[in-house]
Amino acid sequence: MKIFENIKIKNLELKNRVVMPPMCMYTAEEDGLVTPWHITHYTTRAVGGVGLIMVEATAVEPSGRISANDLGIWSDEHIEGLKKIVYSVHENGGKIGIQLAHAGRKSESLKDQIYAPSPIRFNEDYRIPKKMELDDIERVKNNFKEATKRAQKAGFDLIEIHGAHGYLINEFMSPLTNQRQDEYGGSLHNRSRFLKEVLEEVTKEWPKEKPITLRVSSLEYSKKGNTTENIAEIINMVKDRGIDIVNVSSGGVIYTKINTYPGYQLEAARIIKEKTKLPVMAGGLVTDWRLAEEIINNKRGDMVYMGRKLLRNPYYVLNSSSELDVDLSWPEQYERARI
Ligand SMILES: Cc1cc2nc3c(=O)[nH]c(=O)nc-3n(C[C@H](O)[C@H](O)[C@H](O)COP(=O)(O)O)c2cc1C
Repeated sequence: MKIFENIKIKNLELKNRVVMPPMCMYTAEEDGLVTPWHITHYTTRAVGGVGLIMVEATAVEPSGRISANDLGIWSDEHIEGLKKIVYSVHENGGKIGIQLAHAGRKSESLKDQIYAPSPIRFNEDYRIPKKMELDDIERVKNNFKEATKRAQKAGFDLIEIHGAHGYLINEFMSPLTNQRQDEYGGSLHNRSRFLKEVLEEVTKEWPKEKPITLRVSSLEYSKKGNTTENIAEIINMVKDRGIDIVNVSSGGVIYTKINTYPGYQLEAARIIKEKTKLPVMAGGLVTDWRLAEEIINNKRGDMVYMGRKLLRNPYYVLNSSSELDVDLSWPEQYERARI
């Protein structure tokens, strides 16, 4: 079974290819600090045998929070709590990454000023963002760098740059949200500049031997938005600045209903894998090892993420491995429960 085989990217060795993708818990106090819930939540998936566990979108500055209860990594005070999550996941045999994020115009944290490449709001329920001036751009880039330094101090195995779901980096990438006339807007090349410069800052602090993932929205669900091919082109323009893996998602750039069904993003994942030649994490309503196995075998992804499935059943990997008679190591304490 390919899905239960290990994979090595740079010095990160995963025991299987199942990934828990970043999922906001909206459970921090307004200080962005880790709570006992986070430690239990992430540790449980490590006990359940998940190969790679991603910590939810974690804000690089207060105005980059989606909600006032997001996790934060904008101050050194955040390191201690994050370190506890990492320690606990490692102790239980898991590998762990963190998604570094800035919500841009989609921040609903009312105390903070919100920022975007252009002053266009998401919909009537959102505020009109401040157009980022060049000093705002410098500040956010620097905050990504400082956040990376803290992620390294906390001991994470991988960092993910959140370039998806219509948050700040994605807002620069998309013509739907970026109407700037300067060097950060216009052509695909200019729209990829902010991402490229963020990567340049991040790689100043992140060890070369540890991988960096970029999460992208491979479909924008609008005729005037980026196509999957455009996204692949952007990745190709910036990948030498330090992208090792692409985590393929979709949507969130504009307010619209998406028709979802098992595997709805897999064709986009295949295109991105083929055009960028980078390892890909694929997923979206994957709830079963059969589809996961198909994804790897048909080269639509190298790893498969299962989000809501692993919220419902943190032990899915252990359960399916015993169902399939695959020899995954179980926690010693649970050996007697093995079928
Ligand atoms: C509760 C919840 C919170 C989420 N938060 C994030 C997030 O912080 N960052 C992100 O990139 N995606 C986030 N997502 C999207 C998931 O990572 C994943 O792409 C999506 O749920 C589709 O995969 P699934 O069908 O396996 O759940 C979230 C999804 C859920 C259900």
